[in-house]
Amino acid sequence: MSSLSEIPTPTIRVRVPAKINLALCVGALGEDGYHPLTTVFQAVSLHDELIAQVDEPGTITVAMSGEGTDEVAADDSNLAVRAARLLAEQHGDEFGVRLSIKKSIPVAGGMAGGSADAAAALLACSVLWDLDVDPEELREYGAELGSDVPFALLGGTAIGTGRGDKLVPVLSRGAHHWVLAFADGGLSTPAVYRRFDELSPRGGSLEMPTELLNALAQGDSVELGKHLRNDLAEAAIDLRPSLQTTIDVGLDCGALGAMVSGSGPTVAFLCRNEEAAVALSTTLGVEGVARAVRRVAGPVAGARLITSCA
Ligand code: C5P
Repeated sequence: MSSLSEIPTPTIRVRVPAKINLALCVGALGEDGYHPLTTVFQAVSLHDELIAQVDEPGTITVAMSGEGTDEVAADDSNLAVRAARLLAEQHGDEFGVRLSIKKSIPVAGGMAGGSADAAAALLACSVLWDLDVDPEELREYGAELGSDVPFALLGGTAIGTGRGDKLVPVLSRGAHHWVLAFADGGLSTPAVYRRFDELSPRGGSLEMPTELLNALAQGDSVELGKHLRNDLAEAAIDLRPSLQTTIDVGLDCGALGAMVSGSGPTVAFLCRNEEAAVALSTTLGVEGVARAVRRVAGPVAGARLITSCA
């Protein structure tokens, strides 16, 4: 007969991807303090992992390990804690959870790492607490926490409008091979947007990037490379001039296209195929233009349950 101490604590495990923006068209600052966007997200194969275990009612905590976690507060300001708390508040306060997050997505890297953890916490807690929430509702909660949270739940490739939280999935044929160049330290998203406002007070055009969408639908990496666009790149490079060197080296070494990822400072290079990505990541490593280099492919699924042990 098993003793009480051997009864397993209900545990949920979730894996959640990073995103890059293949297009990030930014309009002028609105009265709500946000910028209207037309963006094309792609989820890539760089994942954080979150484990959620039932805890005393009302107790919501997080522990973090891995990439850059010294810089993230593990208190009530943590986005994953806020996600769990929001869900608990909306569904009755008697829930508790112990979250632990293993980070691989760089902190403040322009890859929606914090949003990914919030998305993972929403999904994990909704299952752990057996809540009656559908994916659309979960994305609505996500939008309250951060503009990129709904996409971390959805995954794949999608157009985002509004703050980037209103999503429509788009067809993307085949796999795209990317090399990510991580920089030393992060960049603050609000600071990059503020610099954008100084450099482009009237904002950019919010037109749909049709050529880019056609390239995605055809699975044509060469065309895709020509149409990557990020309106925040100038501001990010202005705040971190070394990013231009990283971009130039990657393009000189045969990348099909290069862009700052989101608000930076990660740089994403599009490669013709996996072999080209291997060669480029080696060269970038040798040239020393990045803190670390990582090969990823996209698109991949959004936040997904891996195991559930009740
Ligand atoms: O939504 P999220 O919390 O991720 O946004 C972080 C900051 O980025 C906002 O406070 C705002 O300064 C800026 N932002 C913006 N326009 C957007 C998304 C984010 O100005 N569409």
